Amino acid sequence: MYTNFYSKNVENSNIYILAIESSCDDTSAAVLHNNRKLSNVVATQKIHEEYGGVVPELASRAHQQNIVPVVDRALAKANIDKKQLSAIAFTRGPGLMGSLLVGTSFAKSLAQGLGIPLIEVNHMEAHILAHFIKDEEQSMPGFPFLAMTISGGHTQIVKVNDYFDMEILGETLDDAVGEAFDKSAKLLGLPYPGGPLIDAHAKKGNPKAFKFPKPKVEGLNFSFSGLKTSILYFIQKETAANPDFIAENIDDICASMQYTIINILMDKLKLASKQTGIKQVAIGGGVSANSGIRKALTEANKKYGWKTYIPKFEYCTDNAAMIGIVGYLKFMEGSFTDQGVSPKARFALGS
Ligand code: KG4
Ligand code: ZN
Repeated sequence: MYTNFYSKNVENSNIYILAIESSCDDTSAAVLHNNRKLSNVVATQKIHEEYGGVVPELASRAHQQNIVPVVDRALAKANIDKKQLSAIAFTRGPGLMGSLLVGTSFAKSLAQGLGIPLIEVNHMEAHILAHFIKDEEQSMPGFPFLAMTISGGHTQIVKVNDYFDMEILGETLDDAVGEAFDKSAKLLGLPYPGGPLIDAHAKKGNPKAFKFPKPKVEGLNFSFSGLKTSILYFIQKETAANPDFIAENIDDICASMQYTIINILMDKLKLASKQTGIKQVAIGGGVSANSGIRKALTEANKKYGWKTYIPKFEYCTDNAAMIGIVGYLKFMEGSFTDQGVSPKARFALGS
């Protein structure tokens, strides 16, 4: 249906994609010209802070309020008129249904109104393919490479054979690593999302001050629920003896928790590299903003002879530019979605 449109644009290599991300609590829109980002606007919803986690109904409502101004701003920043757009890419899943519905409905209506193709994107695939956004300061991985996706909803090690040929080698059996950060932060009385706050405290603390157990999980799978429980018991015990324990030791507690979590992640990455013989290693997802994992991966280049790929901060947490690059890659393949599409709260990688 869009074949003429598609070949015309690929020939000219003058493709403009508007991308929309609304899977969780960030409303984001981006414009890409081919594989380059022109704009990437993110409205983070502050409302969830006071509830200690994302409240789905409030997230959905906030997306409805944010989506039009965020898209307008992305177009204005890119200096692009809607009529110049080649296609609209949107996050189909995985994520919160009420949140996904806002972005999906908006993308469908706009694509229909403009008479241009619609492209569905898997959010977790986008966290990985964000490494293909063209940037003079960053190099892109070659195939195959290993990608570890570490976010508030996922923890996976993926073998990436090609843009759209990915195999999950291991994943979490319970909590995601971002949840481990956020739930541990909550135990310390820190607001949501606690991950960045733990990171900030950890920079000032001693990572060896307290010892937390590492879970014993076979192969390349992860588990974080035991760590959360041991942190809970540790805090209960210490605060019973000294009610000011948290306030007096927050930096050391955070540094020790973060150290344990980073060790768990790095142990699995090392095993995955050993098992597959692949030494190109990328990370993606919100937790890749963490200073501990960034440092560990940077050191791994020398230590293990790896070539590591660490996303710019802008592309770590949820953003629409990563949706846009997948949109561009799918556009080049002529892989479009019809208007009957509906969001998928659960959306497996490669399905
Ligand atoms: O990818 P993302 O923005 O949303 C999901 O798809 O889940 O990831 C959000 C997660 C949250 O759990 C947040 O606490 C965590 O990423 N995060 C961090 C840091 N920045 C964000 N965790 C640890 N250290 C950070 N600097
Ligand atoms: Zn994400």
